[in-house]
Amino acid sequence: MMSNRTFTMIKPDATSKGYTGAILDQIIKAGFSIKAMKWTKLTKEQAGLFYEVHKERPFYPELVEFMSSDKIVAAILEKENAVADFRELIGATNPANAADGTIRKIFAASIGENAVHGSDSDENAAIEGDFFFSKLERF
Ligand code: CMP
Repeated sequence: MMSNRTFTMIKPDATSKGYTGAILDQIIKAGFSIKAMKWTKLTKEQAGLFYEVHKERPFYPELVEFMSSDKIVAAILEKENAVADFRELIGATNPANAADGTIRKIFAASIGENAVHGSDSDENAAIEGDFFFSKLERF
C-alpha cells in the first residue's frame, strides 16, 4: 500500500550556511505538510545508527562524521505519493546530476554534503520517522 508520508533531514552543510528557512519554504510550497519537526544535533553514535545500512560502504565514516558535525532539522512530511514526490523535489543524490530547480541543485555542494535526505521507500520512511519521533511528537 502506498503511504502518504516521508521523512527528511536538512543536513549540517545546509543548516550551517543558513539555508534552513529557504529549504523549508520550498518543501511547503511543493505541497508537503509538516507532521513532526525537530532541530537537533546527532552524536556520532546516533548518526552511525541512522545510516547503519551503509556501514560497509567506503563513504560511511565520512558520512557519520559529517552528519554529526552540526545541527540538523528532522521532519515527517505528508503529501499524496510523498516518497516519490519528495525525491523528485530534492533531485539526484549527487547535486552535479540533479535537475535544475531541485533543492540539491540549488543548495548542495557535493554528493557527501548534499543538503537534504529523503527516504527511499515507504518502509524506510516509517523506520526513519520512528528513529526521531515518539507518538507524542507527531500529528
Ligand atoms: P542520503 O540520501 O542521506 O543517503 C545516504 C547518503 O550517503 C547520501 O545521501 C549521501 O550524502 C551519502 N553518499 C552517498 N554516496 C556517497 C559517496 N560516494 N561519497 C560520499 N557520500 C555519499
